[in-house]
Amino acid sequence: MTSKTYHVKSFGCQMNVYDSERMGDLLAGQGLSAAASPEEADVVVLNTCHIREKAAEKLYSDVGRLRQKRADGSRRTIVAAGCVAQAEGAEIAARAPEVDVIVGPLAYHRLPELLKQAETGRAIDIDMPAVPKFGALPGRRVRQASAFLTVQEGCDKFCTFCVVPYTRGPETSRPSADLIAEAEALVARGVKEITLLGQNVNAYNGGLSLSGLIRALAEIEGLERIRYTTSHPRDMHDDLIAAHVEVPKLMPYLHLPVQSGSSRILKAMNRAHTRESYLATLARLREARPDIALSGDFIVGFPGETEADFAETLSIVAEVQYAAAYSFKYSVRPGTPAATMADQVPEEVKDERLARLQAAITVGSLAFNQGTIGKRCTVLLERPGRKPGQLIGKTPWLQSAVVSIPGAKIGDLVDVEIVGAMPNSVEAVPIPSGQESAAA
Ligand code: 5AD
Ligand code: SF4
Repeated sequence: MTSKTYHVKSFGCQMNVYDSERMGDLLAGQGLSAAASPEEADVVVLNTCHIREKAAEKLYSDVGRLRQKRADGSRRTIVAAGCVAQAEGAEIAARAPEVDVIVGPLAYHRLPELLKQAETGRAIDIDMPAVPKFGALPGRRVRQASAFLTVQEGCDKFCTFCVVPYTRGPETSRPSADLIAEAEALVARGVKEITLLGQNVNAYNGGLSLSGLIRALAEIEGLERIRYTTSHPRDMHDDLIAAHVEVPKLMPYLHLPVQSGSSRILKAMNRAHTRESYLATLARLREARPDIALSGDFIVGFPGETEADFAETLSIVAEVQYAAAYSFKYSVRPGTPAATMADQVPEEVKDERLARLQAAITVGSLAFNQGTIGKRCTVLLERPGRKPGQLIGKTPWLQSAVVSIPGAKIGDLVDVEIVGAMPNSVEAVPIPSGQESAAA
């Protein structure tokens, strides 16, 4: 008999991708093999994200498609996982009877048990257990030279627009010793780059601080690059900034969401930083590490945002010169304080502001990429490019670099010189042999 198959579909952030991988590890541990698409799989996990709108609709439309019986009359087992399952588990149970398992992001280590339970009736676990799931997960199967490692989960910050504190619970950090062991195991299997993940990764406090953890991981031979995301401006302390100077393996890139350039809106968002304090943090960083690439997140159309507030967002984009930035229209999240605030901004105003902001961000990214022309650096090759012989990888500044290097393969770390710039990528060429030592 052929073994059963599974497919995990990830809808969300990098932590959602990490969780999807770990659910795949669990199912593989049960003897299931991976299917290329949800349609082909016997067990389908829909790992949802709740941060912005339409998350629940995407889930229901997938469930609608997947509940259809297959040609041989059999049905798939459907698992609703992730933050929508956590936030709306009861509604999913009522609205989608064909969902067999509903499991939240803090309880998915119980997936094998829940699947067993689902053979006789629907299984739900949306508890936020006191004992963290990580100890109950099997060893990791490695897929790429670059891997995610969740070090911290949850959020205590309660920005007024955000559901995360409600879906992922309070801030918790995994013990440093466990993380060093997980990282060593990844590196032993060929991983060269690790990105440390957390909703508030720089609030990490699992025995070591985040900077202490980074310094400990940098000792692992064979690990070449370390990154971390997402940070909160309020937790950007001097020891972490110093690590950017003193730990060569720590890449010169920081994702530091600001959300708005207006201190008035930041106050209404409960961000606990102002425009000025955010800019002061970036100034400290740039003084320490002048080449650091910065990225941010922005929300347009938060309740009460005026044209003058929005102009401050545009001006902070121009002032900071982000290498990359992500911008979103404010989306009402039921149960969060901003959902019931007065002066909700009309949709067409949000659309128009988003378009202007994205145009400004593109100008900044192109300028950043152009500023790197002539630099020599390493690129970690990740995937094939569009043209034959081309490969795409990441520079230290997290730019996508397109290169053609005869004999190079995915997973290699190669020395290149940047020779061309587009808004979302750069072009690079190999450094002639004998000159590699010049690469940073
Ligand atoms: N509406 C729009 N964007 C949001 N984000 C979080 N909550 C919302 C919301 N309700 C954005 C923030 C955050 C990123 C992960 O998603 O910019 O940094
Ligand atoms: Fe959400 Fe704010 Fe916490 Fe980030 S810091 S997860 S935006 S509440």
